[in-house]
Amino acid sequence: MVSRTLKVFFGIILLFFSCKSKEIPTEIPNIIPKPSSIKTNNAVFTLDENTGMSFDTQFTISANFLKQFLKVGGGIDLKSGTTIAFLEDTSLPSEGYRLHISKEQIQIKASTDQGAFYAVQSLRQLLPVSFENKTSSSKTIKIPCVTITDSPNFKYRGMHLDVSRHMYSVDFIKKYIDAIAMLKMNTFHWHLTDDQGWRIEIEAYPKLNTISSFRDETLIGHYNDQPHQFDGKKYGGYYTKNDIKAIVSYAQQRFVTIIPEIEMPGHSQAVIASYPELGCNGSNVKVPTKWGIFDEIYCTKEETFNFLEVILDEVLVLFPSEYIHIGGDETPKVRWENCEHCQKRIADEGLKNVHELQNYFISRMEKYLNTKGRQIIGWDEILEGGLAPNATVMSWRGRSGAVEAAKSGHNVVLTPTSNCYFDYYQSDNEDEPLAIGGYLPLEKVYHYNPIPEELTSEEAKYVMGAQGNLWTEYIPTEAKVEYMVFPRMVAMSEVVWSEPTQKDYNDFTKRLEQFNKRLTALNINYANHLYDIEGNMIVENGNAYYNLETLMKDKIIRFTLDESIPNINSEVYTTKIPIEKSKTIKAVVFDAKTQLGKPFEQYINFHKALGAKITLDKTPHKAYAGSGAEGLINGISGSNSRYGDKEWLGFEGEDLEIIIKLNKETEINTISTRFYEGKGQWIYKPKRIQFQLFDTNGNALTEAAPIYFQNNNSTSKNTFKAAIAFKALKAKTIKINVESFGLIPKGKQGAGHKAWTFIDEIFVN
Ligand code: ACM
Ligand code: ZN
Repeated sequence: MVSRTLKVFFGIILLFFSCKSKEIPTEIPNIIPKPSSIKTNNAVFTLDENTGMSFDTQFTISANFLKQFLKVGGGIDLKSGTTIAFLEDTSLPSEGYRLHISKEQIQIKASTDQGAFYAVQSLRQLLPVSFENKTSSSKTIKIPCVTITDSPNFKYRGMHLDVSRHMYSVDFIKKYIDAIAMLKMNTFHWHLTDDQGWRIEIEAYPKLNTISSFRDETLIGHYNDQPHQFDGKKYGGYYTKNDIKAIVSYAQQRFVTIIPEIEMPGHSQAVIASYPELGCNGSNVKVPTKWGIFDEIYCTKEETFNFLEVILDEVLVLFPSEYIHIGGDETPKVRWENCEHCQKRIADEGLKNVHELQNYFISRMEKYLNTKGRQIIGWDEILEGGLAPNATVMSWRGRSGAVEAAKSGHNVVLTPTSNCYFDYYQSDNEDEPLAIGGYLPLEKVYHYNPIPEELTSEEAKYVMGAQGNLWTEYIPTEAKVEYMVFPRMVAMSEVVWSEPTQKDYNDFTKRLEQFNKRLTALNINYANHLYDIEGNMIVENGNAYYNLETLMKDKIIRFTLDESIPNINSEVYTTKIPIEKSKTIKAVVFDAKTQLGKPFEQYINFHKALGAKITLDKTPHKAYAGSGAEGLINGISGSNSRYGDKEWLGFEGEDLEIIIKLNKETEINTISTRFYEGKGQWIYKPKRIQFQLFDTNGNALTEAAPIYFQNNNSTSKNTFKAAIAFKALKAKTIKINVESFGLIPKGKQGAGHKAWTFIDEIFVN
């Protein structure tokens, strides 16, 4: 960056622009992501048509952004002058800034244009929302006087978008980039190729665009809904080189680096559909019309590498990013195992197996890209068979890939499914639009800390940052992209920008409530769960109660127990509701006059184990610990269609022993429970379960008869019930043993890994 000093002359004329109002702002402004420091000083700056701006050429992008924003948003055309001044301060970190607003002046200090751009984004959030949709008519704008000193916590602050499964307009990609920039994120990971469609124009191989960019039709509904049905409509397209140039340039004007992803060696069936000679067995396949992982991957013959190098040459011309993402994930090796070229490659290169062949593939592509001055980044599977020497790892299957890579001195970006996959459900409301599965509420994104706890502070330096991902199998429209991404991306911006010590979820949601108005003005179709109600079962001295809460503490909850939908006259919730029999609680959030949220409803199935003591011999996985062991006997079932809510507990491949000690010897007639199955998410119902009853003295009252699972145990699409009946036995203790499914079979997603077990309520009657 050119470094020159801008001289600003404070003239007497500035007094003319000073505070003309007696209004005194008292609140800390609602800026997202939360700045490192904000000081307010009870005064306002008045912006009007006489306000002038000066900047040195090194601040051209940020200054012009501000000028345009004020002009387009509010018709305020900044004059030349020094009331708003961009000043160089080389002591500030490269993406940091200091925004000082006094009654007389707005001073933006930064060491780079990018830092100044982030100051402008903060200033933008101090302006009325009407600027966002060009409806500001006031020509005199009051801005609270503040001093903000700010810089990011992580240098990589990313958002991903899959445009293969579904694609979106050029204008929409720009809108997405606008949002990334507004939230002071700096990387757009553009997933341009996958099995279901190739989305970038390549001149050397035209069939990539005439054939690989289109599929004959698309799966309707969820993959788990069998038998599969299709829409019968050809789907596809691609971004032309001109589209991409325009998008890259647009992103540069907002300090967003675009990292293109060209998937290899897997997720490449769309390519093999056009160029079957690049597969191992030359067989003709089509561009897939459904989701999943496919066996057709690039063969490791010389021809493939030549092909990919030519493609990358074209990619590099379009994308100036330091990093090129080469995929590397979910690569079945069955074709390689049975291919003479691949086996010869293994022998010639002295490799041990197909896993080392994966490393050969990735390392070879890395070497090529390194000669072009670029670095590779890949999904954590690139650790398989050894890591390419200079590779950066994007850790998605939990954080273990990141830990391994950072410990061996490689840079990492964290994007674990548990906290960063925005294609997961964001609430457990049954009316959420179809998603791939899982459960990732806003709060879980917000509380994410990208630094794995296994790393020392030295090793933690390899953590470049984190990224929110949006896979789009179930996201055909731009409106739905927005719904899935907002507000989780807003939370992610604070994960990667703000100091952990600055983070406070209640404070965040208050700021988000205001920020949502900006999203509305920007015509962004965000999901609003701020006025959702959360219910919790509480057991005190063996008595059960139900507690209702909503995030926004200044709002009112009204509830009913008679199945009617609460209205403005319904009882106001003030204290926990006693539960002494099965009942349905309905509740809604209101402000003084209006209903804000959607109705909440919870059926509580009162049973004999509610209030008992429960112990598990294994701890549920941290990401799926629900409301703890007690959640298994709290009278509340998990969702029928999702496994990630707080009623489901998830175990990674372990057998499980559950002991329930009832408060007193109790007559028992039936026990039942449920297991979740989502094979695409590596979740399988157990192999078997057995129930056993004991009396007060610990004597077994029953044999431990095992129940084996059959498909006819299915109670809904994704859940399987196990139940047993007894002849009115008086028992004190219930023992339940669950034997997990074991290894995931060949040909299924996650083949060879241990299947997960998910269990919800254990009903004792
Ligand atoms: C991925 O989700 N397959 C990276
Ligand atoms: Zn091969």
